[in-house]
Amino acid sequence: MAIRNIREYGDEILTKKAKEVEVIDEKIQTLIDDMLETMHKYNGVGLAAPQVGILKQIITIDITVEGGEEEIYVLINPKIEKTKGEQIVEEGCLSFPNQFAKIKRPKEIVVTALDRNGRKVKIIGKDLLAQALAHEIDHLNGELFIDKIIPNTLEIITPEE
Ligand code: NI
Repeated sequence: MAIRNIREYGDEILTKKAKEVEVIDEKIQTLIDDMLETMHKYNGVGLAAPQVGILKQIITIDITVEGGEEEIYVLINPKIEKTKGEQIVEEGCLSFPNQFAKIKRPKEIVVTALDRNGRKVKIIGKDLLAQALAHEIDHLNGELFIDKIIPNTLEIITPEE
């Protein structure tokens, strides 16, 4: 496994559409392992393959709460089937270090995808999971949270040294 370089805002790959994965081969498995490691290294809730420079439809999400059961998702070719309700949430993105803003996301979302073994899965996400799924799937469409935020809610946090 390896930490991959995270592409940041301004890199045009972030605004491109990712392609469907046709074969889940060794290379894809390595990419997934690297995405998980990279996401964890930078304490991200989610990561999409374009953020590490690969225009493929793969996302990883980890919404495990401390002390709770592990809740990690690896989704290939995810598709939003349904959304319900809305929530206003605070959001950031690993491609926008130290920037946070308020954004409207669905309260619930139903996604179908393949898991890393090629099995069809259906995820019903609520609250944080709904937010993360919507955010990461947006990345696969070249859409960034910054373009959808509620005006004047952007905060730039200066990290402590
Ligand atoms: Ni992001």
